[in-house]
Amino acid sequence: MKFFNSLVFPLLTLSTITFASLLRPYVLTNTIAGLGFFAHFDWQAIDDPTHGRVTYVDQKTAIQQNLTYASYDSFVLRTDSKTVLDPAGPGRNSVRIRSKRTYETHVAVFDVRHMPQGCGTWPAIWETKEVNWPDGGEIDILEGVNDQTPNSATIHTRAGCTMPETRLQTGTSGQLDCDWLVNFNTGCGVKFPEKTSYGPDFNANGGGWFAIERTDDHISVWFWDRQDKTVPRDVKWGTLLVDPKKWGIPSAHFPNTSCDFTQFFQENHIIINLTLCGDWAGNAYGATGCPSTCIDHVNSSPEAFTEAYFDIGSIRIYEHL
Ligand SMILES: *[C@@H]1O[C@H](CO)[C@@H](O)[C@H](O)[C@H]1NC(C)=O
Ligand SMILES: *[C@@H]1O[C@H](CO)[C@@H](O)[C@H](O)[C@H]1NC(C)=O
Ligand SMILES: *[C@@H]1O[C@H](CO)[C@@H](O)[C@H](O)[C@H]1NC(C)=O
Repeated sequence: MKFFNSLVFPLLTLSTITFASLLRPYVLTNTIAGLGFFAHFDWQAIDDPTHGRVTYVDQKTAIQQNLTYASYDSFVLRTDSKTVLDPAGPGRNSVRIRSKRTYETHVAVFDVRHMPQGCGTWPAIWETKEVNWPDGGEIDILEGVNDQTPNSATIHTRAGCTMPETRLQTGTSGQLDCDWLVNFNTGCGVKFPEKTSYGPDFNANGGGWFAIERTDDHISVWFWDRQDKTVPRDVKWGTLLVDPKKWGIPSAHFPNTSCDFTQFFQENHIIINLTLCGDWAGNAYGATGCPSTCIDHVNSSPEAFTEAYFDIGSIRIYEHL
């Protein structure tokens, strides 16, 4: 570790790094881009636990149907936009991928060019353990439904984890009890202040960067849209080290004041999924000005899902060595 650090340090611009983080820097441990997604993620052909009108397909099917497409610098994950569905048959083909590795203390930077848009869509980039959920906690980094901006970042836990009312964040807190049993798993959500953080506005703007820092004493999520001049250089260029202490006030901040993160959060996978309708998007559908009912729309209007795709430039993971 000492030896590795001594190799890495000369490559840095020291002025961008604070003294404290020099002692324990976040070092790039995974760059996941383009075809690299195949090495770092598993395709999960499972039933949607949130009852969406989707069928998650395996990797082979996803490639055959071009629901997963990778070039050297782009990774696309989408739902089918060609098939009219039998209302009595299975849901629209879609993709759910889960990182092979799990992470505890880490920083992850997601460079996202396009996110799924369209009535009925419920995309998510999130982290969880998946064994005995919600053991190990759940952190939603990017999530929303039916094109309703802004983005929300949310944590879900077992009973005993709450968030303080006043926190150093630019977003707006919702519920403060993160217990999944309270209000049907609402969790501790924070709405981002930026209109460009979700859906059609995000896409029209060329997307942007989401970043998470998770430690034993806090979880923070930041967002910069593609046009934002204040995006930190280490985020924008994917340098070997990052220093979240220099990133400014996060959009969402979850401190450990009344939540022992070492108890409620464990080894988590990164999951990227796109479901349609289901518990959240389906229930919220009526209030969004979307046509017909969610299920009918998904069944009968494949062409409405041509924009229902992620295009991800890269995911960079940083850890303490
Ligand atoms: C998709 O992501 C959301 C993230 O909040 C999660 O609640 C839901 O269970 C996921 N669906 C599937 C099938 O993984
Ligand atoms: C598959 O999807 C990619 C990304 O959207 C697109 O560039 C490509 O043309 C598609 N390939 C086929 C055969 O449709
Ligand atoms: C919060 O984190 C700090 C530093 O890791 C620790 O000393 C403190 O006990 C934690 N508080 C709770 C409630 O877990």
